[in-house]
Amino acid sequence: MTTEQSTAERAPGDTHSFARPSEAVAKHLDLDIDVNFDQKILSGTATYNIENLTGTDKIIFDTRDLQIEKVYLGDELQETSFELGDKKEFLGQPLIVKIKPDTKKVTIKYKTTPEAAALQWLNPQQTAGKKYPFLFTQSQAILARTWIPIQDSPGIRITYNAKVKVPKELLAVMSAENPTQKNTTGIYNFEMKQPIPSYLMALSVGDLTFRKIGPQTGIYAEPATIDAAAYEFAEMDKMLAAAEKLYGKYRWDRYDLLVLPPSFPFGGMENPRLTFVTPTVLAKDRSLTSLIAHELAHSWSGNLVTNGTWDDFWLNEGFTVYFERRIMEELYGKEYADMLQVLGYQDLTNTLNELGADSEDTRLKLDLEGRDPDEGLTDIAYEKGNFFLVNIERAVGREKFDAFLNKYFSTFAFQSTDTEKFLSFLREELIKGDDELAEKINIEGWVFSPGLPDGFVKPTSSRFAKVEEAYTAWKNGKPAKELSTKDWSSHEWLHFIRLLPAQMSQQQMAELDKAFNFTNSGNSEVLAAWFLHAIRNNYTTADQALETFLTNVGRRKFLVPIYKALIATPEGKKKALAIYAKARPNYHAVSTVTLDELLK
Ligand code: BES
Ligand code: ZN
Repeated sequence: MTTEQSTAERAPGDTHSFARPSEAVAKHLDLDIDVNFDQKILSGTATYNIENLTGTDKIIFDTRDLQIEKVYLGDELQETSFELGDKKEFLGQPLIVKIKPDTKKVTIKYKTTPEAAALQWLNPQQTAGKKYPFLFTQSQAILARTWIPIQDSPGIRITYNAKVKVPKELLAVMSAENPTQKNTTGIYNFEMKQPIPSYLMALSVGDLTFRKIGPQTGIYAEPATIDAAAYEFAEMDKMLAAAEKLYGKYRWDRYDLLVLPPSFPFGGMENPRLTFVTPTVLAKDRSLTSLIAHELAHSWSGNLVTNGTWDDFWLNEGFTVYFERRIMEELYGKEYADMLQVLGYQDLTNTLNELGADSEDTRLKLDLEGRDPDEGLTDIAYEKGNFFLVNIERAVGREKFDAFLNKYFSTFAFQSTDTEKFLSFLREELIKGDDELAEKINIEGWVFSPGLPDGFVKPTSSRFAKVEEAYTAWKNGKPAKELSTKDWSSHEWLHFIRLLPAQMSQQQMAELDKAFNFTNSGNSEVLAAWFLHAIRNNYTTADQALETFLTNVGRRKFLVPIYKALIATPEGKKKALAIYAKARPNYHAVSTVTLDELLK
């Protein structure tokens, strides 16, 4: 059993895992870990029920920056030999464990290291309550292996149980059946009965409290945040009902949210039964809840039917964006959903411009071999994926398309698919040899070609047409405070801000700010968009607010464009580096990996 051998023959299909599931595969995990805030490490055992399919003498797990102490076989815990293969950039090292043809159980005793990229350990100052430390994980795409030795491929599913020991003042929650209250022992037990891929393994520990929203829904948050969160997400149950009406029964029992501290690097993460969400969506007016619709939609597209490899990421995200906007349409009407489509189209256009419309990375089916799967995390998967589905819906009609999607989710429930499997399902169930329809759907143009295909129909929005009118009036000299902006949602404001010219005078900036108070907006989307203009136009009135935002918020989607705008000029770059030096300790590794590169 040499290392060369083990790395040469990877799992067919998934180039981002060392596992060889067709030979020996994990089916169930029993995790028993201790959370140590002083040392910032997790330690304990991961015990797997495995299937040895070929009678092989080894099973391979993925690890990265883990300390593997001992490995045992069977219930009698017989020590066995293991080897850690060569370290590969972002993939880590294969853990090759010697097994027997009849081995059913493997127990790995391990510790994480402070480098574990999935984990963010927050000190009390970085939380809302400022009293207790906080921990959360972010496993997608291939970071689960930095906190659990695991077959870390989205093509492999496991059920799990966990026992987690935490300091007595804190509560632990996972992507599983959760406690709703602290207990006096600090020991919590979890069960995830449905099989899930490794990237959905999740844990958070903090001073958390639970608030029920509906019969099936609720929110975990720090006490300081729970009221705001309960107001913002009061409609979770309605969302769940709308989603079920569209694509079938919710298969995970409960749907709860965990509101994290602001350093959370994403908007949301669809951890099963417990979506992790950024507090930057707490806008006080429920205007950013499409993000919850998005994470909820993943309970079908992603968690139930999963992209088999990260090259098929659009199957997760494109479907989810489409589904998210269908939920929002169901709840708030077509004109509302149309605004989201137009904003999404703007994001897509920006991404196409940045990558270049003939870049291979603008195809839906990606080729990420040899690269960090994070590189596939662009608006191509999200928005081009969404518009491909919108295009199919237009070609066959909504009723047929919904029936098709329902069947797709039930046919592939609790399985992984890939682009090719989806496309053959599409051909069999929908296209059915109709050449004219096939031409309209244009699989080749959408999935395997870069850019947007000919005949792409741009989305439009009647509510945005009014915003454009107001903008034109302003450009033609009408004072900002006289514009008719009554009843504008944050989406309209975002559209307005995006319409503003790249170059504006100090006077124009000040006029807009005075009329609409952008610099002090409580809406993170509005604020982040406004800061880009403030930076480009050297509008220093916003400096303090900008610095506060950058030092508090760790959401990468906001940070990257803002830092990019800053480093466009030499003085801006100085400012960016000074702020980054202060802010960096508040960011999760997911964000610092990107920003270190950008700001080096
Ligand atoms: N699953 C993603 C987040 C993700 C993707 C994390 C890939 C790591 C690797 C999540 O569902 C997501 O898409 N979040 C978005 C919000 C959404 C409304 C577009 C985000 O965080 O911005
Ligand atoms: Zn998503």
